Amino acid sequence: MALRRDIILGIETSCDDTAAAVLTEGRLASSVVSSQTEHDRFGGVVPELASRSHERAIIPIVEAALSEAGVDKGDLGAIAVTHGPGLAGSLLVGLSFAKGLAAALDIPVVGVNHLEGHLYSLHLTDPAPETPYLCLIVSGGHTQLMRVDRGFEHRLLGRTRDDAAGEAFDKVAKMLGLGYPGGPDIDRLARRGDPAFHRFPRTRLQGYDMSFSGIKTSMLYYLNEFDEDERRAHLQSHLPDLCASFQEAVIDMLVDPMRRAATDTGIRTLAVAGGVSANSALRERFDTLADETGAAVHFPEAAFRTDNAAMIAAAGRAAILAGRTSPLTLTVNPSLSFSSHG
Ligand code: KG4
Ligand code: ZN
Repeated sequence: MALRRDIILGIETSCDDTAAAVLTEGRLASSVVSSQTEHDRFGGVVPELASRSHERAIIPIVEAALSEAGVDKGDLGAIAVTHGPGLAGSLLVGLSFAKGLAAALDIPVVGVNHLEGHLYSLHLTDPAPETPYLCLIVSGGHTQLMRVDRGFEHRLLGRTRDDAAGEAFDKVAKMLGLGYPGGPDIDRLARRGDPAFHRFPRTRLQGYDMSFSGIKTSMLYYLNEFDEDERRAHLQSHLPDLCASFQEAVIDMLVDPMRRAATDTGIRTLAVAGGVSANSALRERFDTLADETGAAVHFPEAAFRTDNAAMIAAAGRAAILAGRTSPLTLTVNPSLSFSSHG
């Protein structure tokens, strides 16, 4: 389908970030993200607070994205919006807003799968990975290994059977008395810790599936060996070591299936997307893998690793150019899967 104007507004509200971005002829003109902080003291996202906060933020964030891009809303050619997976109430705020604006402007709206958005985060900056490539999508809600072929055909190779890797970071951070989301804190502390301080068991499954609930339990058992005073003293002297040891185990469990899939398929272009791709040790591990095997390794640019709307606009634009838009009856799908296409 031809766009009346190739100017796309992307909207993302699937979890606790309210984000809007503008793509003009495929080039990013603006990307604005507002991260909610009211969940920090609860150690996790409170759905009811998240949707109310999206309601307050959506108009100012969209206006900021339009004004930063120097675009009037009347200039827009289409709106791309996340319709799943995510929190129902949060998704509903973005989708309702997008549909209302699209109807008022008489332009198409296209629903985007949040995980497909994460894949597109790799295509916002050059060089994008060349197909075929393997991509780990690792976020707070999902952990899956995909194969991406020409024309963006993709196939699920493996996924976590329980917790997402980001969720393990967040839950372990909470056990260690760190803030939410815990991934960035663990990453920062682990830089001055010893990854060999304690060897947490690695779960290895058949095929390319993964599991991260075991490591969470192992950390719990480890900490429960101490009484309260001992634990406090132990954390005081060894918090960075525990962060590094935990992080090392998670990275092993993420890299192992990817490495096996690369050997089995002969694919030598590897990519990582989603919030956990911001992890510095994961990046270093992949750089080492690239040096050892000659594989090409791609990570999204820093601003596009955690949730953003630029990736949603990019995925939406590709869908529209391939002839797909959504009816105004489009609804949210909190458990929308991202497995096979093409
Ligand atoms: O993709 P994302 O922003 O939201 C979801 O779609 O879930 O990912 C958020 C997740 C959180 O679990 C957060 O702790 C994790 O990404 N994360 C990190 C880092 N930065 C964010 N995990 C490890 N190291 C980091 N530097
Ligand atoms: Zn995400």
